[in-house]
Amino acid sequence: MQRTGRFLFAVLVVLFSAATSQATTTAEAQQKASFVRLDRVTASRALTHGIEIRSGAAVMQITALRVDVLRVRVGPAGQLPEDASWAALAAARASSAAVTPESNGTSVGFKTGKLHVAVQKDPLALTVTDMEGHVIAAQMPQRPIEFNGASFRVYMQSPADEHYFGLGDKSGPLDRRNEAFTDWNTDAFGWQESTDPIYKSIPYFLTFRRGVSAGIFLDNTWRASFEFNKEYRDGYSFGSEGGPLDVYILYGPEPKDVVEKWAWLTGKTPMPPMWALGFQQSRYSYYPEAEVRRIATRLRNERIPADVIWLDIDYQLKNRPFTVDPERFPHFDQMIQDLKAEHLRAVVITDLHIADLPNAGYKPYDEGVAGDRFVKNPDGSTYVGVVWPGKAVFPDFTQKAAREWWGTLYADFVSKGVAGFWNDMNEPAIFEVASKTMPDDVQHRIDEPGFQPRVASHLEIHNVFGMENSRGTFEGLLKLQPNVRPFVMTRASYAGGHRYAATWSGDNSSTWNHLRQTVPQLLNLGLSGFAMSGADVGGFAGSPQPELLTRWLEVAAFQPIDRDHTAIGTNPQEPWENGTPEDLNLRRRYIEERYRLLPYLYTTTEEMSRTGLPMMRPLFLEFPKGAVDGQPLDLNDPGSFVLGADLLIAQSPYPDEMDDYSVALPLGGWYDYWTGERVTGNKERKAIDNSHAKQDEIHLHRSLYTLPVFVRAGAIVPEQPLVQSTDEKPEGPLTLRVYPPTEPGEACRGSVYVDDGVSYDFKKGESLRMSFTCDVTGPGVTVRVEPHQGSFAPWWNQLAVEVYGRSKPAGGASVSGLDGSSKRAVETGFDSEHHRITALVPDSGKGLELQLMN
Ligand code: GLC
Repeated sequence: MQRTGRFLFAVLVVLFSAATSQATTTAEAQQKASFVRLDRVTASRALTHGIEIRSGAAVMQITALRVDVLRVRVGPAGQLPEDASWAALAAARASSAAVTPESNGTSVGFKTGKLHVAVQKDPLALTVTDMEGHVIAAQMPQRPIEFNGASFRVYMQSPADEHYFGLGDKSGPLDRRNEAFTDWNTDAFGWQESTDPIYKSIPYFLTFRRGVSAGIFLDNTWRASFEFNKEYRDGYSFGSEGGPLDVYILYGPEPKDVVEKWAWLTGKTPMPPMWALGFQQSRYSYYPEAEVRRIATRLRNERIPADVIWLDIDYQLKNRPFTVDPERFPHFDQMIQDLKAEHLRAVVITDLHIADLPNAGYKPYDEGVAGDRFVKNPDGSTYVGVVWPGKAVFPDFTQKAAREWWGTLYADFVSKGVAGFWNDMNEPAIFEVASKTMPDDVQHRIDEPGFQPRVASHLEIHNVFGMENSRGTFEGLLKLQPNVRPFVMTRASYAGGHRYAATWSGDNSSTWNHLRQTVPQLLNLGLSGFAMSGADVGGFAGSPQPELLTRWLEVAAFQPIDRDHTAIGTNPQEPWENGTPEDLNLRRRYIEERYRLLPYLYTTTEEMSRTGLPMMRPLFLEFPKGAVDGQPLDLNDPGSFVLGADLLIAQSPYPDEMDDYSVALPLGGWYDYWTGERVTGNKERKAIDNSHAKQDEIHLHRSLYTLPVFVRAGAIVPEQPLVQSTDEKPEGPLTLRVYPPTEPGEACRGSVYVDDGVSYDFKKGESLRMSFTCDVTGPGVTVRVEPHQGSFAPWWNQLAVEVYGRSKPAGGASVSGLDGSSKRAVETGFDSEHHRITALVPDSGKGLELQLMN
């Protein structure tokens, strides 16, 4: 370097450091000015339904929406955030419960009929307690709420025996304790157990401590984060880089109560069409048309029961949504009809990226431009990103009008008889950019009932974009066919998105570990509202070993959505591929079992749509008191889950291992689903109430032939004769599998719900519900069938009653009307292999009582 050069360099360095230090000082000053800490209560006033707290310039409002649901809103500069939400229903937000103020020298607050709310004055710390003194939620006093510019963070106490569940499709173990997560919807092809974030953002979790549960929901669509026991081993925290601090606290006390309150706040999963419960065959992609027909024919020829074939992007012309490639699918309409004739429905992909194709007669583009429907750059130009069709533009789903227009795009496919629709890539995924999504500053012009019309940056809308995409689809389909239940599958979503679509866990892999992941992932999705969910069966990325595909098809037969799907370029993955004839037999046998269980599955689905309870449930949801030393049972048996209320599926916690394993069945008595035998274990353990009880710890021999499934003693499980699709009317009786309780007098119940499976006529009473009970008495077992409720005509007129756990034939049997009339003897059978006594009785609809004598 020359002398002058050196001098110039030195001057530049001085100037530069002066400039940066000045910049730092300004930034720091700005930061200081916008740093707000709610460290002590400076004023408070009672509200009709809660309390308002001031901490310097900041305001905090705590209100009771119900006696067991609280809402906490905070504004750092004295104003509360806009009272608008994509997730929480307006009716829920508008509801309120009476409160009684409760204050003392150190705290201010109130009580509802179920909760005490106390805000300690200095330091400011909120504590919510139930009437029994259980702490439901409590801030860490040493870390008051902090705002730093637009971002904020809330710290809560985390007792060592509290566990956390939910947060949507986040990967990893069921319990979120000791984990940390970010909410930023991400196209995560090839995600693994530790990958975060992935596709969905559901900023809601359940707490569970010694049988008592609460729900915590941060209604904030911005990039948010949650950490449990990372920063403080006895604390968890959540926050966001922008947007409202708007938190809901839902009180149980039982976890099921929390789940139902979540449904109250964010809505329920609508009743899906029954065919969505059938087996579904997919791949990326079936084409040309002849290939789709070949798959359909093979499914039927192999007698693999199935309801759906999926068409992935290659059916479209150059990947352009809402088109059909005329060369690959010259008779698309006829093909849909032919599939229908085989009782196979088509679900087709319709991604949100509209090809950027001016002057080409491409309707979605032309109409979108004419209606000014697309997302814009800050300079007012239309944002263009590259995805499957190449350059693409994106409807602004934050506008009601844009969603309504989007919904009209389905008219053509609906008129052709396409049954369901797949909204993929809606994080939104964008290729060729490091962020994998739209730039932060693209503009969404919110124009939406309940919101102030305003321009929002992508930072605010990103996490809710996919949900509003699927909402446009769902509501559009309803408009097109008001009396047909839509089926929409979405990949990205936000809290409340289950109102519009089912979901799946995205691009998983064909590995044993991914099969293992399906259990915690689908359980947490169900707790988060997404009860209708599945994982790509067999795995998406890569090709499974034959044994893995077999095992996956076995387990998925007991999961809400059973869809075999794989990526482009992988080996064929249909049930008849990639395995021995024995594999095919096993795969078929489990899919058949799913179809036999349809009455049970459908009844569970109806319960889901009525109450919000997921179909696939963690053990702690069904057996909250079964926690051992405060530990939810699931933590001991991470491969186990409950389908509906009564079937416990005990996959090996490490399905790739060859070893035997043990499962600790919850207290109460169990039967082996396959053999009908009572199972008994012999381990003493300490239950949550400190009582010592015998636990049925079962030693299981791992075999590909049998996936261990157990039935709760006291359950009556309805089943049907085998069919090849849900369209087919079952031929024969409705089977009632009766599993008597352990002790006389203990509950024994079941029910069946049926309707036409496709329409909303059930809302007008066109449905049928039938309940059953059973009683173990000294001389035998009595099964009681209540009269039919509702006007829907069932497909059966006989009941095949099967009473399990029997070691010898019945000593006699009789059936009578519920009033004791027309008592007559019935013949019974005994099946020693399945430990059951069987009897066939006519079902007049008026109810009956069947008595089996020992
Ligand atoms: C995405 C989806 C996958 C689909 C593929 C092609 O990767 O997650 O399921 O097959 O796109 O549409």
